[in-house]
Amino acid sequence: MSSNSYVAVIDCGSQTTKLIARRVRELGVFSRIFMPSISADELMKDRPSAIILSGGPESVLDKNSLDVDDDIFKLGIPILGICYGMQLMIKHLGGELERSPHREFGQRMISIDNSSLLFDALTSPLKVWMSHSDQTKICPSELRTVASSDSCLQAAVEYPAKKMFGVQFHPEVSHTSCGTTILANFLFKVAKVDKSFDLKDFLAEQIQSIKSQVGSGRVIMGLSGGVDSMVAAFLIHQAINDQLLCVYVNHGLHRANEIEITKKAFFQVFKKELLVVNAQEQFFEALAGVTDPEKKRREIGRVFVEAFESEAKNFKAQFLGQGTLYPDVIESPKSKSGKSHGIKSHHNVGGLPEHMNLGLVEPLRELFKDEVRALGKLLGISNEVLMRQPFPGPGLAVRVPGEVTRERVELVRRADAIVCEEMKNIAEVYNKKIWQSFAILLPVKSVGVMGDARVYGESIVIRCVESEDAMTADWSKLPYEVLEKISSRITNEVVGISRVLYDITQKPPGTIEWE
Ligand code: XMP
Repeated sequence: MSSNSYVAVIDCGSQTTKLIARRVRELGVFSRIFMPSISADELMKDRPSAIILSGGPESVLDKNSLDVDDDIFKLGIPILGICYGMQLMIKHLGGELERSPHREFGQRMISIDNSSLLFDALTSPLKVWMSHSDQTKICPSELRTVASSDSCLQAAVEYPAKKMFGVQFHPEVSHTSCGTTILANFLFKVAKVDKSFDLKDFLAEQIQSIKSQVGSGRVIMGLSGGVDSMVAAFLIHQAINDQLLCVYVNHGLHRANEIEITKKAFFQVFKKELLVVNAQEQFFEALAGVTDPEKKRREIGRVFVEAFESEAKNFKAQFLGQGTLYPDVIESPKSKSGKSHGIKSHHNVGGLPEHMNLGLVEPLRELFKDEVRALGKLLGISNEVLMRQPFPGPGLAVRVPGEVTRERVELVRRADAIVCEEMKNIAEVYNKKIWQSFAILLPVKSVGVMGDARVYGESIVIRCVESEDAMTADWSKLPYEVLEKISSRITNEVVGISRVLYDITQKPPGTIEWE
């Protein structure tokens, strides 16, 4: 961890727990997410400067509903309870809850008492985002109500002597106006936390820690062309130079120019050529006749390991470098980081088999994506690499539903390259923050007319989504002229494609990828 001062976010199962952790970091304070089962003693090992209890989908009134260690409320550390977190706090302080006759979901106006430090410098009324169906029945006498709405008497409570605060709404979401100010008031005015999260310190600490972990050992690392593995590799390289070997396994399922961009970026920093293992033949052979999405992933994983394993042996590697990020750590079912699992199952190209027996070096495992990009900038990685959109490990194979052949991958790659080109300036021209935009090749043909001839051609779907972190996503309302240009370029320039469709499905219920 890069600073002494940090905030513990206890995950009570909310979909916005990570957002809380990110907001805290955006305010310059390090944060970590913990399981709700953490004991007060364990929590005190690293002594957080403040605790935030997240919201959650359960009802405190239900038998066996999620609870936290009662001693957490006796630590003397400032606590902010959000939604379910506030209800837990009320319960532990001796209050009672009940089902509310008016369930509140969505935007509400609340009036606030700005003599409370939580609302310092804010004026009534505030627009906030509510999402709850229980309400306070008996409020512990120590708690003072400092905000209310028409239908929620206790929209916020405080116990200043113990530095405990609770809000029934979600200050972390952008729909709550002044939510960041409320969080900042809690951090800096109530808990008096230091603003000390600095990526430069983080970098220096990681370099030191990799040096002591690896000693004189050797690390092998697979580069995927994506941001995470590249930043992780550059960071590990700073620590151990030639004790690191980077390998790019060419599975033939990459985006247009992917290998060239990766090689160029690699050369800029490492001052030597990237080792590219050409395994296209083996991948396409393994994928022949496979249509089941999970089987595709398994086959790709298997061939990847085979290609990688022989390089690892030759290099006599004892460690594996990986660009694992914080969301991967807290989403992985193995981490059991609370109850919010299961929205996105992280389905990467499998791990390496145990018999390889490699220690893991994962210098990014405490960072979010935007922090990784900022770190990459510090390390001098070009924007061309840093600003690339996320790309799935199994590559274009998951964008070709049905059988994956060289010809079909080439079709989708060419259509995808056109989407990329046309989307290049979209942020500046149309002020849209695109998370991912790509093409999918459907296993469905349709009739068309080209020139005077009737054709029976392939169909491409364009998927373009806006998202904060891929957990949820909305399809981008791209201007018609952009869609028109993409469609006409694809049908004109990619021989074999005669129809283009636009995917207007949100996540949930759809996922971002098609497989
Ligand atoms: P979904 O499709 O689950 O994707 O909404 C969420 C994010 O994860 C990426 N993705 C993958 N990344 N291996 C990866 O490394 C995979 O198998 C995989 N499948 C999806 C996807 O591109 C999106 O950013």
